[in-house]
Amino acid sequence: MRHRHHPSAGSLNGSMTRVLSCIQPSGDITLGNYLGAIKHWVDDQGPESFHGIVDLHALTVPQDPTELRTVTLNTAMVLLAAGLNPDVTTVFVQSHVPEHAQLGWMMNCTVSYGELSRMTQFKDKSDRIGDQGFISAGLFTYPSLMAADILLYDADEVPVGDDQRQHLEITRDIAQRFNSRYGQTFVVPKAAIAKVGARIMDLQEPTSKMSKSADSPQGVVYLLEDPKSIEKKVKRAVTDTDGEVRYDPINKPGVSNLLSIIAAATGGDPAVLAANYSQYGPLKADAASALIEFLHPVQQRYADLQSNPDYVRAVLAAGADKAQSVASVVLKRAMDNVGLLAR
Ligand code: AQP
Repeated sequence: MRHRHHPSAGSLNGSMTRVLSCIQPSGDITLGNYLGAIKHWVDDQGPESFHGIVDLHALTVPQDPTELRTVTLNTAMVLLAAGLNPDVTTVFVQSHVPEHAQLGWMMNCTVSYGELSRMTQFKDKSDRIGDQGFISAGLFTYPSLMAADILLYDADEVPVGDDQRQHLEITRDIAQRFNSRYGQTFVVPKAAIAKVGARIMDLQEPTSKMSKSADSPQGVVYLLEDPKSIEKKVKRAVTDTDGEVRYDPINKPGVSNLLSIIAAATGGDPAVLAANYSQYGPLKADAASALIEFLHPVQQRYADLQSNPDYVRAVLAAGADKAQSVASVVLKRAMDNVGLLAR
């Protein structure tokens, strides 16, 4: 649990480090989501931790309504199964707290077209959709809503995977701009990115990150995947032809990814672990068994939660109340400072 004192006097939320980080219900949760983010949320959770299931972000690409509702609830079950304790930590659904959309608009008006145009996630996702496809305005302005998600909670730290680094930078820029235009309103948050596991790569395409919305599931390990299927995918992971096991993400992305996976799952260091292997076969076998063992308890707890959706809905309702009690104060502060007439 985190009870660190916040070093800066500028904090608006007292002395404990306030943590916020969210996940999109945009598909089945992957090993990348887990090792890059969720595991750290669980390890560091405390009364100042807020974790949202950001369903409004999922709307940036067309969704099947029934599927979105199911995935949103399933994502909550994954977070609880992974070990977030709702008696301690706030777990909520973004759309249950309308302050997110309200502050999102103000953030849209505090970021420029040029800044949004430089976001690599937008470039990657819109390239994937292609000129003939539907690229929503929401996909382009995604970082404004993400800034609102973070700033609404006076968050000091945002534990995310490496792919979110640029979005954290733009959030800081937006917060600083708003504060300098309208007076001290927002805490300027810091990204907290893990040393190991912050960028888990696709097993079939180890130069691309493992993603929920990958075109093919062959290179993606899902948190709830059964052991046989995990073993098959890991054993078929793309490596290289030089036969040497060393941690070198640039020149040996596939092998380095497997070392990172073992390290993140067992708490080791990928460069040190490399010395234990001289062949790819045993490296793959160890990566598969480390993952299967690591994921087993989460999968068991998930199965239990699935038989109790009413409990999960109640957790989300209580979480939304707690989240809103914080978010409404910050939204009011921002509305007053920007000059919106109080009713
Ligand atoms: N491959 C990854 N390695 C490490 N961390 C990762 N994260 C995502 N992929 C990896 C981290 O997971 C958290 C939640 O991610 P998100 O739901 O906000 O969506 P995303 O970052 O866009 O990741 P996905 O899984 O690829 O989703 P889609 O396909 O919907 O875009 C974040 O902290 C993220 O850094």
